[in-house]
Amino acid sequence: MLREILQVGSPVLRQKCAPVTRFDGELCELLDDMRETLEKADGAGLAAPQVGVPIRAVIVSVEEGFFEFINPVFVWQKGEQYGAEGCLSVRGKAGKVRRPSKVKIVFRDRNGDKYSLVARDFFARAICHELDHLDGILYTDKADEIRDAED
Ligand code: CO
Repeated sequence: MLREILQVGSPVLRQKCAPVTRFDGELCELLDDMRETLEKADGAGLAAPQVGVPIRAVIVSVEEGFFEFINPVFVWQKGEQYGAEGCLSVRGKAGKVRRPSKVKIVFRDRNGDKYSLVARDFFARAICHELDHLDGILYTDKADEIRDAED
């Protein structure tokens, strides 16, 4: 089921999200809905607070594949990249943001099983952007210049 993507100004986007403690049917339904919503919006990632649910769950859809990260935590961040970013909760805008070029995270999947993953380049950028959402941070807080997107 498609969910509404909240826009900047919604208080839930500024909340620090709570860890997921129950890996149940409700979580699966949320993740399935988030995937459908992300595909429809043609985005690279979506965090649960963006659909009004303040829990630590994000999805990322990049060249490397489709990923669900529950309770993700950085193990390390290395290097630096500087590039354009946008957000489905800040429609019509884009900005340039400095991010690490390579990150390692630990996370759980929807069954509660624990994994780790190393990502680089755009994949690393997408992870950083989505994990920021879980702490109420938007890329516009970090961007040098925010402009109207060319689409
Ligand atoms: Co975003």
